Amino acid sequence: MRIDVVTIFPEYLEPLNVSLVGKARERGLLDVRVHDLREWTHDRHNTVDDTPYGGGPGMVMKPEPWGEALDAVLESGEGSPVLVVPTPSGRPFTQELAVELSGKPWLVFTPARYEGIDRRVIEEYGDRLDVREVSIGDYVLAGGEAPVLVMVEAVARLLPGVLGNAESHRDDSFAPGAMADLLEGPVFTKPPVWRDRGVPEVLLSGHHGKVARWRRDEAFRRTAQNRPDLIERCDPATLDKKDRSMLAALGWVLGEDGRFGRAVESVEE
Ligand SMILES: C[S@@+](CC[C@H](N)C(=O)[O-])C[C@H]1O[C@@H](n2cnc3c(N)ncnc32)[C@H](O)[C@@H]1O
Repeated sequence: MRIDVVTIFPEYLEPLNVSLVGKARERGLLDVRVHDLREWTHDRHNTVDDTPYGGGPGMVMKPEPWGEALDAVLESGEGSPVLVVPTPSGRPFTQELAVELSGKPWLVFTPARYEGIDRRVIEEYGDRLDVREVSIGDYVLAGGEAPVLVMVEAVARLLPGVLGNAESHRDDSFAPGAMADLLEGPVFTKPPVWRDRGVPEVLLSGHHGKVARWRRDEAFRRTAQNRPDLIERCDPATLDKKDRSMLAALGWVLGEDGRFGRAVESVEE
């Protein structure tokens, strides 16, 4: 996969040289190219921003450098990339989207600063590319570089050959399939006793079926506790009998609308 990032802070993307993404680059599984947007400015101050039309606080990123930069990046490769525009006003970045993007040969990211990029840039490239405006959460950061680090890592770990064990993301929280609406439960390693705290017996049993059931039950327990919204939206058709009885034990019942809801609302006086 090829990834281009256009930014006014190329050094912010240096973490892409280390750990999993860095190794994937070294091994030729990922071709990451970071570009300095200011290279496509033509004034003495390398200006990339200007005051907003209509007034108001803050500055807006000018369309000309972005247009020249993106044209140059597009001309440097074959085919058309997916243009990923980080913005708090975009669609949520989810594991499902990470999986989809991991199947694309080429991604171009446009992390912005100030109040964002002049809208015409998004419209211009939206006419000829698959453009995704994506938010990494309901909060506002100072710039899009941290969101790019987040998204690139989430996508890169899904690329074939990047993780040592190809199966290891199958059981992750949110993994499409059996885990789509579930959080992964707790994990343990050696020693079997640490500060008087043991490991759940079942994990030492060597019984794969029982271990798998325990893990799934714990996933339900943690999801019900931390993200009840996921239980509410999960498709009951994807659950087996044991899943349903675990949910019942946790106080969730199937409603007339075909969705799970809490059996009894706890009302605090
Ligand atoms: C200060 S923010 C602009 C916020 C904008 N005024 C708004 O309220 O939507 C500057 C840039 O940071 C990035 N950014 C900030 N928060 C983000 C988020 N939650 N997800 C993705 N990108 C974000 C985007 O590139 C955005 O254009």
